[in-house]
Amino acid sequence: MTIAWNASYAIGYPMIDAQHQELFKRFNSLIEACQQKKGRQEVVRLFEFLDTYVVEHFSAEEALMTVHAYPEVGMHRKQHQEFSEKLQGWQRHLQQEGSTLGLLIETNEAVMLWLIRHIRTVDMALGKFLHSRPA
Ligand SMILES: [Fe+2]
Ligand SMILES: [Fe+2]
Repeated sequence: MTIAWNASYAIGYPMIDAQHQELFKRFNSLIEACQQKKGRQEVVRLFEFLDTYVVEHFSAEEALMTVHAYPEVGMHRKQHQEFSEKLQGWQRHLQQEGSTLGLLIETNEAVMLWLIRHIRTVDMALGKFLHSRPA
């Protein structure tokens, strides 16, 4: 299962939307790499790359929230932290010997679904807030 970007994921803030689109692209290549039975090394490498990108993306959102004194910054940041921990746990899991291809695919889908839920609720609320601010 790869998931295509669509307009319902847009929060209306171009920099953030571009990063979300990039995340979708990279997740899809990760899921495809698993489905095409590419080597474990390749999958781990893609996952590490994604991990770095997620950290950069979260920092960008958190910087925006700080600059605009967003009241929900604490809750939003907590979700980011929880996800980063989850991501590390998943990565450890993937690096373990004996991890199956099915498990890799399941893991990647779980990561993707978390992100989609986060974008459609918490990031969307941030987008609405930013729009309500005077330019
Ligand atoms: Fe985001
Ligand atoms: Fe976020």
